[in-house]
Amino acid sequence: MKLVYYFSGTGNSYYAAKIISQQLGATLLPVLSLKKGDSIKADFLCFVFPIYDFKAPKKVLETIENLSEVQANSIVAIATYGVALSKALYNFNEVLEKKGTGLSQGYGIKFPHNAVGSISLSQSEISSRLNKAEEKLTQIVYNIKEQEYSTIEKTSLFEDMTIIKQMPVLLKFLYILLTKGANSLKFNTTKDCTSCGQCVKICPVDNIQLKGSLPVFGDNCTSCFACIQWCPQHSIHMGKYSFKEIYIQSYRHPKVKATDLM
Ligand SMILES: Cc1cc2nc3c(=O)[nH]c(=O)nc-3n(C[C@H](O)[C@H](O)[C@H](O)COP(=O)(O)O)c2cc1C
Ligand code: SF4
Ligand code: SF4
Repeated sequence: MKLVYYFSGTGNSYYAAKIISQQLGATLLPVLSLKKGDSIKADFLCFVFPIYDFKAPKKVLETIENLSEVQANSIVAIATYGVALSKALYNFNEVLEKKGTGLSQGYGIKFPHNAVGSISLSQSEISSRLNKAEEKLTQIVYNIKEQEYSTIEKTSLFEDMTIIKQMPVLLKFLYILLTKGANSLKFNTTKDCTSCGQCVKICPVDNIQLKGSLPVFGDNCTSCFACIQWCPQHSIHMGKYSFKEIYIQSYRHPKVKATDLM
């Protein structure tokens, strides 16, 4: 059996996981469909996820930690990211090692960034990243099929200096956080909200409920930015700040639909 598990907020990781599963004839499943105590036994196993704060998302790591068993002849991880791969795959491998297994291969794919700081990317940089990501995916599929390679990729934080370019907007965001506090950035909706319920359906951790006609955000947010980025009205703000005011570029992977992630 071949299995590909994904976690994705804005579609980058979903897209990569879909291509890998199609090319390898594997079943595609959300990581969060795995429950505490489940076991995975497969010939080929692949995890595809974004990097949040230099690591795999906490919910992804917790889900794997809570599995009773992970057994596969070959395990591949693919981390999608917007700034620097850093050592995220090594950290992910440590979690697998605690389960008595480990990565055969680990790859990073740089995609257009989806979160705070993404506004520093121009449209031509976005297109260029999407094209390079396609090339990298083709290479990864080849490597997996050939099984000749055993590599776990890592980079420095200063990989192609993206982090330097994003520094001014990240510092401004940090300034808001430090001077106004984290509560000033809690999600809320503007009067443009049409109560369509898309944010409720797309949240991977069921953290949003429609109460009356307005979305209400709970305390279980995993910061995937899916609700913000997929809202058709751009009506989810962080505190009183709109998208642009906190340096977020409107971005969803162009070949992914909201319904793919629901
Ligand atoms: C909360 C958050 C934190 C992030 N932290 C990082 C990071 O530390 N390094 C990085 O390179 N990209 C970071 N990113 C960018 C995402 O990893 C990148 O856009 C990824 O491809 C998103 O994948 P998705 O479309 O599958 O959700 C972050 C994104 C979010 C939403
Ligand atoms: S997706 Fe946007 S418009 Fe639809 S309910 Fe959520 S906040 Fe409102
Ligand atoms: S509430 Fe949090 S976890 Fe849910 S979609 Fe929005 S950012 Fe993602």
